[in-house]
Amino acid sequence: MEPDVLDGPDTTDGAGARVVSVIVNGERRGGLAPVRMTLADFLRHELGLTGTHLGCEHGVCGACTIILNGAAVRSCLLLAIQADGATIETVEGLAEGDELSPLQQAFHRNHALQCGFCTGGFLMSITAALRDGPVTTDDEAREVLSGNICRCTGYAGMIRAVRETSDETYGAGRNGETA
Ligand code: FES
Ligand code: FES
Repeated sequence: MEPDVLDGPDTTDGAGARVVSVIVNGERRGGLAPVRMTLADFLRHELGLTGTHLGCEHGVCGACTIILNGAAVRSCLLLAIQADGATIETVEGLAEGDELSPLQQAFHRNHALQCGFCTGGFLMSITAALRDGPVTTDDEAREVLSGNICRCTGYAGMIRAVRETSDETYGAGRNGETA
């Protein structure tokens, strides 16, 4: 039986830290995580993946959204040790080299970001949602965006970006209002 990671001081540094091993953006990575370290802090400070941002740090803003084992999650609400063995996607994994993903290109085309602080979280939430199926109306796009907060750009450009990426992915011509 797998040992409970929260059970006992089975540590590597004698100070309550454990080795956490994950596959991030297709690459196996590992680092040392104190048992109370959040997954967001682990990604940022241990693995150097600073595209995952921290806003509220209590599950409201969505800036820290990543995809963990296929599901969009808030990495500020998870402990790093809970992710041991998981497959993780962060915003750094969306582009292929210098080629932005279709969603990133749509954000750029539609001026869907301003300061960019929230953008990584939005991109990960939308990426996960679009894998589940097309977004065929503006209201559906709003629903996809509803778990994330942007404080400076507004949402009209994002709605267009979601719709355009959905059309590119699944084919256009579906009924629905335009943004
Ligand atoms: Fe995680 Fe705001 S930082 S939801
Ligand atoms: Fe500035 Fe969203 S682009 S908070």
